Amino acid sequence: MSFEPKLLGFLCNWCSYAGADLAGVSRIQYPPNMRVIRVMCSGRVDPKFLIQALELGIDGVYVMGCHIGDCHYLEGNYEALRKFDMTKKLLSFVGLDNRIRLDWVSASEGVRFGEVVSKFVEDIRALGPSPLSRDNPDQELLKKVKAINMAAGTKRLRALVGRQRKITEEENVYGEKVPEEEFNELLDTALKEEYDRQRILLALARDSKSVKDLAVELSLEPSLVLEHMLTLKGRSQVDFQEIIGNTPLFMRI
Ligand code: FES
Repeated sequence: MSFEPKLLGFLCNWCSYAGADLAGVSRIQYPPNMRVIRVMCSGRVDPKFLIQALELGIDGVYVMGCHIGDCHYLEGNYEALRKFDMTKKLLSFVGLDNRIRLDWVSASEGVRFGEVVSKFVEDIRALGPSPLSRDNPDQELLKKVKAINMAAGTKRLRALVGRQRKITEEENVYGEKVPEEEFNELLDTALKEEYDRQRILLALARDSKSVKDLAVELSLEPSLVLEHMLTLKGRSQVDFQEIIGNTPLFMRI
């Protein structure tokens, strides 16, 4: 039986939605697999929107906005690009990064709108149904995607992505700029750390566990789990529950 992907598209009001409209009135043929959500600007698309759509079993998610330099809010699409890159990196931890896509489509590009949607449908069809889709989602993967969703909402990642342009393009009071490469390394480390920390919090949702239990369950080094536990304790997200023998058990607060 042929697989019909279920796709979701977030289209900015001023360019891409108008481009989709033009495709419609021009009677351009393209597959009807994508449901559209209109947003005022592509910069409004929070990473959590994309991750949640995948969590709910959508096979692919498209974000479209005005071409760079044409955003009606000046810098919204730069913001969209940074948020999208972060989301893609987070989703690469679980191999779902090729199910999201970002593109720029202007109000006059009705034909191009039809082409990019057709290509996306074709690519997702080649990938096959999402492992989270329909009646039998992969529960282990679902837990990891939930951790990714939680990580995307942490203050640390929001602050890093929100201030990326300022940090890498503007000089600080000492006349210094952080090179793009250095910032990316910092961001990559933060993404992995926050993802692991959210996995730990999810693993502690029902029972208290030792560092060793968590290390085995999550396939992480015990020393790394311990480091994360200290950070999470400092953030008042976990605490000691009891000590059994010589082993402290942690619980989620
Ligand atoms: S208004 Fe279209 S991307 Fe900002």
